[in-house]
Amino acid sequence: MQYESTVTQLLQQALSFSEKEISELLDIPPNPKFGDISFPCFKLSKILNKTPQLIAKELEKAIKIPEDSIVREIKAIGAFLNFFFNIPILTERTLSQIWNERDKYGYKEDNKKTVLLEFPSPNTNKQLHLGHLRNMALGESTSRIFESQGFNVVRVNLLNDRGIHICKSMLAYKKWGNKRKPDKKEDHFVGDFYVLFSKQLKENPKLEEEAQELLKQWEAKDIETIALWEKMTNWAINGFTETFTKFGISFDKTYRESDLWEKGKDIIMEGLKNNLFHKDEVGNIVVDLGGQLGTKVLLRADGTSVYITQDLYLAKKKYEDFKYSKSIYVIGSEQNYHLQVLFEILKMMNFEFADGCYHLSHGMIFLPEGKMKSREGTVIDADTIIKELIEMVKTEIISRGKIAESEMNKSAKDIAMAALKFFLLKFASSKDFVFYPEESVSLYGKTGPYLQYSYVRANRIIQKIKKKPSLDVNFGLLNKPEEISLIKLLKDYPDVLEQASLSYSPHILAEYTHQLASSFNLFYEKYRVIGESDEEMQNARLLLVRCFRDVMRNCLYMFGINTVNTM
Ligand code: ARG
Repeated sequence: MQYESTVTQLLQQALSFSEKEISELLDIPPNPKFGDISFPCFKLSKILNKTPQLIAKELEKAIKIPEDSIVREIKAIGAFLNFFFNIPILTERTLSQIWNERDKYGYKEDNKKTVLLEFPSPNTNKQLHLGHLRNMALGESTSRIFESQGFNVVRVNLLNDRGIHICKSMLAYKKWGNKRKPDKKEDHFVGDFYVLFSKQLKENPKLEEEAQELLKQWEAKDIETIALWEKMTNWAINGFTETFTKFGISFDKTYRESDLWEKGKDIIMEGLKNNLFHKDEVGNIVVDLGGQLGTKVLLRADGTSVYITQDLYLAKKKYEDFKYSKSIYVIGSEQNYHLQVLFEILKMMNFEFADGCYHLSHGMIFLPEGKMKSREGTVIDADTIIKELIEMVKTEIISRGKIAESEMNKSAKDIAMAALKFFLLKFASSKDFVFYPEESVSLYGKTGPYLQYSYVRANRIIQKIKKKPSLDVNFGLLNKPEEISLIKLLKDYPDVLEQASLSYSPHILAEYTHQLASSFNLFYEKYRVIGESDEEMQNARLLLVRCFRDVMRNCLYMFGINTVNTM
């Protein structure tokens, strides 16, 4: 809470408790009628052996408010002590802070700690899908939020580029590809062969064995197999990179399973030597974690790696490379068990980084029945979704007829991406949800375009008015309920940002940003700025609009959403 320390200090005048003890009790009242911060007295009642009502009354009397304090009044209401802020002072401080800090408003100082985030870590046998888009939105937004909190953020990707699924695409290409070069986006080209394999497998179950055979050849580093693998993996990677760029993400480092998988075995052997793991009756190396997690195979009897083998090594490698204090794995909830097991083993092995590992787990996304599905009925891929959203936005913009052709392509892309990203981020990450394309591009409701539109409105005022905003205003004039609500929300931004980072939850910021836009729209519809005849009033409102615009831009940045000038 902004100004929490002011309130804590006031309380310390009358209570012999530490700052921390007091601040843990502070709360924000559900209704502004009850003040801006409240101090519930129930806990104290036990310690001081008085009723909470009496404590609140006594504190009200005992605390003296200094003259230029942000706190205007302290009132005991029932068992609560409520603190009311001085609105002109609050306004002046908030708007001055935003004015001075601009795009660093809400940012904390460098804390010299590194947070590593891994996302979206696709398999290289097929193109990206809607689930990857959610993963990417979440990974990038969480990265930006952590950057704002003073962390050095490292973004890494992992390519699962070996294993049986990769060999399936390879086998299909070998059999039916006629050495063709990609005639479409390269990852889609690779994906087509994966689909082809699955189709052919229905007619010919032997293909499964052939794929296994190909995997053995790959593991034996057969020259021809490796050459084919390299060619197809590069196609997949080129295609992914194009999508990442379109989405506005890039990585500090990309790990590849093909470089890691063999090294994981050493860690398993070490654990076996130290009696942390053992061999089961058929010779697999397993770990027994007891309880719900149970027993888990770490290395097969024939020496082949399983999925977790690479992850054990990768966790260590990431730490060697970046000395992280936190390592966040952005991965779908279907892998919850895998990550629990992974983190448990890292702890068993006493790796110093084990406690810093965190699974940012996300639920599934569905598409409304019958919509946005490809002809075969399979879920549509990431690139097609983006393309269709851009088309939808273009039709929408054309029908509104406000935008020049030249500006249309860039704006349509920015608006479509806003629609997509905000829809993906507004739900708590653990939730499953349905993606409604039409709803996402709407100018109304909890949507990215709605937020962008509030920015456009504010920006238009600033551009049209024939004077420069300035801090030299009469802050007391901003005293209408809509203005005060907006100012209070602007004040809250640093807290919300902090809260979003502490709980790894961009959706908290999404909820806030929507409230902020709605609050601005209420102000916008009711009061004039350009047409305001009172010069002093106009100056004060212009400053408020400018501050809103800048905070809105900061919010949008946290989601990876660009602002647009007209829409
Ligand atoms: N490639 C995996 C998949 O698509 C996700 C990898 C997640 N990262 C990890 N370190 N295990 O299911």
